[in-house]
Amino acid sequence: MAASMAGVSPLRPLLFLLLAAFACHAADGSTSRYGHGHGLGVNYGRVADDIPSPRRSVQLLRAAGAGSVKIYDANAPVLRALAGTGLTVSIMVPNEIIVDLAASYAAADKWVADNLLPYLPRTLIKYLLVGNEVLSDTSAANTTWPRIVPAMENLHRSLRRRGVSRVKLSTTLAMDALVTGAFPRPPSAAAFRPDIAEAVVRPLLRFIERTNSYYFVDAYPYFAWAGSNGTVPLDYALFRGGDGAIRYVDPGTGLAYTNLLDEMLDAVGAAMSKLGHGGVRLAIAETGWPNAGDYEQIGASVRNAATYNRNLAARFARNPGTPARPGARMPVFVFSLYNEDLKPGPGTERHWGIYYPNGTAVYPIDLAGRRPLWAYPPLPVPENDAPYKGPIWCVLAAHAAQKLNETAVGDALTYACGQGNGTCDAIQPGGACFQPNTGAAHASSAFNSYWQQLRKTGATCYFNNLAEQTIKDPSYGSCKFQSSLG
Ligand SMILES: *[C@@H]1O[C@H](CO)[C@@H](O)[C@H](O)[C@H]1NC(C)=O
Ligand SMILES: *[C@@H]1O[C@H](CO)[C@@H](O)[C@H](O)[C@H]1NC(C)=O
Ligand SMILES: *[C@@H]1O[C@H](CO)[C@@H](O)[C@H](O)[C@H]1NC(C)=O
Ligand SMILES: *[C@@H]1O[C@H](CO)[C@@H](O)[C@H](O)[C@H]1NC(C)=O
Ligand SMILES: *[C@@H]1O[C@H](CO)[C@@H](O)[C@H](O)[C@H]1NC(C)=O
Repeated sequence: MAASMAGVSPLRPLLFLLLAAFACHAADGSTSRYGHGHGLGVNYGRVADDIPSPRRSVQLLRAAGAGSVKIYDANAPVLRALAGTGLTVSIMVPNEIIVDLAASYAAADKWVADNLLPYLPRTLIKYLLVGNEVLSDTSAANTTWPRIVPAMENLHRSLRRRGVSRVKLSTTLAMDALVTGAFPRPPSAAAFRPDIAEAVVRPLLRFIERTNSYYFVDAYPYFAWAGSNGTVPLDYALFRGGDGAIRYVDPGTGLAYTNLLDEMLDAVGAAMSKLGHGGVRLAIAETGWPNAGDYEQIGASVRNAATYNRNLAARFARNPGTPARPGARMPVFVFSLYNEDLKPGPGTERHWGIYYPNGTAVYPIDLAGRRPLWAYPPLPVPENDAPYKGPIWCVLAAHAAQKLNETAVGDALTYACGQGNGTCDAIQPGGACFQPNTGAAHASSAFNSYWQQLRKTGATCYFNNLAEQTIKDPSYGSCKFQSSLG
């Protein structure tokens, strides 16, 4: 019953009241003067133990001028907090349940009944995205990959039967769906990987075309730039390549590019054309730039993150499309609302936020793109636009040392000592780093020994948020810490 009213717009007076309330909040260095409205979407990730409540998060979204929000699961408090806000909402269906939803219409229908219907129509659910970069996970090749489209079919049928006609279905794919990965140059030569093109992507594009939905891509110029070894100018990745100063001309089409994101989007378009579905519309499920990272990760800074996201907002406010698709309208979701402290991996993973966990803006931004760049306060000068060449060590993080959790540190020590060769020899009785005989001191020695041995094979200085990098030599007395320079 409620479902048949999906898509009815929220009560206008309520919306105005909310806007008025948020205008006060926005005075803290953000965007009230430039109004609120249909700005870029934001990914509201919650892999953190210290972020604000859903209600406060909605205020922060509005203060930044977000027009919509994308969430990674159908979290009930979040969906309730988004009710009546005017923000459109995209919900991701977790990878783990795709096989079940594909196997049974009843399971898909129950999922819709349990997770969507209670929030309609006051929560403006717009896209249901079945799976997060599933085609990047080769361990799911035989299980989940062939079930993505059948799960979408079942959910689609359930939504239609229940009269929810506004919600569109898709899935999100990373750039590694293309043969060439994150840097498919020239764009016109791009193609989908042979292991997925016919079996998965073709049926997916057919479904998207038939239901008039979008292909949702996660496109990160940051990674393509950082991996380009200086061959791509930073300005080109940050949308500062205009005025004919920095251009790339695709030899296949003669089209001129002024930024890396357009190249990535047109590469996806070219790959779709090769499968006979060049008319499928594109949406950007995730894009952004990290505001900080590890010492050896270049270009992750507040200045570059602010520049990328502000230019992105200003650009999409004009709906320029891309060189191959001029004027195309595209839903865009910036990653991410918060710096998320519990994301594993290198430091950049935990620093995509436009807000710190305490709700302070990392940098002011108007996601509606109306605030001119000159109207923002000055940004800090980045110190890491070129590779860092000095020594780096990995030690127990200061915040973890302050409130030492003996259990967690003990678990991390056990893990580290089980990896590599002689990782914990120095902290055995009689070893050079045995004294002081404390869990904290031993953890630093073991974390560093582990990381120095294994970082070349992708190990990170993280240990469930217990470790951090330092460029200050932690060696003392006869206890020598090996550095990243050997
Ligand atoms: C998928 O199935 C093929 C053929 O049976 C097999 O060779 C391959 O190892 C399987 N892949 C995974 C990830 O299980
Ligand atoms: C950059 O250098 C690395 C390491 O030498 C190499 O693996 C990678 O392919 C290079 N990338 C580009 C875009 O040249
Ligand atoms: C919020 O956190 C950031 C980053 O840790 C810090 O710089 C800032 O001062 C904090 N703001 C408040 C109001 O505590
Ligand atoms: C300490 O760490 C353990 C294991 O990671 C965890 O289960 C526990 O909740 C932590 N205790 C506190 C007080 O954070
Ligand atoms: C540990 O030693 C073995 C044998 O010398 C070697 O093959 C392996 O690469 C070493 N592992 C690390 C992490 O250095």
